[in-house]
Amino acid sequence: MASYNCCLLLIFFASTVFLKSDAKLSANYYLQTCPKAQAIVQAGVAAAIKQEARIGASLLRLHFHDCFVNGCDGSILLDDTDNFVGEKTAVPNNNSVRGFDVVDDIKAKLEKTCPGVVSCADILALAARDSVVQLGGPSWKVGLGRRDSTTANRSAANSFIPAPTSNLSALVSSFSVQGLSTKDLVALSGSHTIGLARCTSFRSRIYNDSTTIDASFAKSLQRKCPKSGNDNVHARLDLQTSTIFDNLYFKNLMEEKGLLHSDQALFNGSFTDSLVEKYAANSCKFFNDFAKGMIKMGKINPLTGSKGQIRINCRKIN
Ligand code: HEM
Ligand SMILES: *[C@@H]1O[C@H](CO)[C@@H](O)[C@H](O)[C@H]1NC(C)=O
Ligand SMILES: *[C@@H]1O[C@H](CO)[C@@H](O)[C@H](O)[C@H]1NC(C)=O
Ligand SMILES: *[C@@H]1O[C@H](CO)[C@@H](O)[C@H](O)[C@H]1NC(C)=O
Ligand SMILES: *[C@@H]1O[C@H](CO)[C@@H](O)[C@H](O)[C@H]1NC(C)=O
Ligand SMILES: *[C@@H]1O[C@H](CO)[C@@H](O)[C@H](O)[C@H]1NC(C)=O
Repeated sequence: MASYNCCLLLIFFASTVFLKSDAKLSANYYLQTCPKAQAIVQAGVAAAIKQEARIGASLLRLHFHDCFVNGCDGSILLDDTDNFVGEKTAVPNNNSVRGFDVVDDIKAKLEKTCPGVVSCADILALAARDSVVQLGGPSWKVGLGRRDSTTANRSAANSFIPAPTSNLSALVSSFSVQGLSTKDLVALSGSHTIGLARCTSFRSRIYNDSTTIDASFAKSLQRKCPKSGNDNVHARLDLQTSTIFDNLYFKNLMEEKGLLHSDQALFNGSFTDSLVEKYAANSCKFFNDFAKGMIKMGKINPLTGSKGQIRINCRKIN
């Protein structure tokens, strides 16, 4: 209980300072125009998680994949059109990202209550936070006021979203391109404390990473995920508790039980080992740095002012 309180205090201090220095997004953005916005998103997320706990992980990931591709602008939600190929079929997303129906349901409720006001990009930012909280993780104030893109770019999604086969220097550089630090990389990778990955995402790790993978862990995964076939069979990113937001992900890394190559790369005798050790030893420190990282990630290139639009349907431009 004591450590829980410590987390809350630090997070609210950190996020207040952060939002004050940022004129573009504001936690109170919908106070006048849609006072129920946050409650509607929260209720939609809670209902979806009650049906299937994994959806919380999927919603968190949608915000990440949105923000890393030309900013947090709802572009990942757009279906293909005659003018552009959307991001849904980019390599990191195809047969993998999910949660679009949940976003549609939330958006429909918001449109009933306050038509044309709440952006799809803001729904993603709020749903990510609400999912983490629902699954036992930290809370933070979400800056709001993002507008939605009128285009999407599949090849940008292919280049900017890091691959699970990435080495540490590639991971650091893909975060640094977005203005995120090495600390943000390690803390935000802690998202993999929830959710699942497909065989195709960890196959090369379990067959080719023999010096940095626990042997019995590799063997049990090889039974599920053969050298070819079963591409869509899933395994938990956090071996023990894939629907609880905790710090076991980091403890697993210290035992060479990271599921993805990119996970284990964070604890492999290099400069991020100490951060992994810190978060494994102290979940309060993980929660604080995670919340700070999410606030930073949520501020990547938002469309504000008269840029973009407030989509009525998150899947298509108005
Ligand atoms: C550091 C670089 C990262 C890489 C290489 C990476 C890669 C992946 C891969 C390959 C999967 C499994 C996809 C599949 O097989 O269907 C996955 C799942 C997931 N990722 Fe990441 N990820 C990274 C960082 C992040 C960040 C920063 C977040 C959130 C802030 C995040 C949140 C998630 C979540 C929650 C899941 C589970 C989704 C579900 O079960 O539906 N990841 N990630
Ligand atoms: C996406 O996945 C589907 C189903 O597996 C596949 O038919 C399609 O070719 C993939 N699209 C891309 C662009 O890779
Ligand atoms: C899409 O993204 C790619 C890779 O970042 C970039 O080269 C290209 O110019 C973008 N296309 C459009 C239409 O913005
Ligand atoms: C890391 O991966 C990048 C991109 O694939 C590659 O160019 C680089 O040589 C690799 N670095 C190391 C140290 O293996
Ligand atoms: C393991 O690495 C070898 C050599 O790079 C490659 O040919 C093989 O496809 C990899 N195996 C898997 C399962 O990825
Ligand atoms: C760990 O580091 C070694 C040596 O640099 C490298 O060959 C290996 O691919 C790395 N493994 C992971 C999982 O990062």
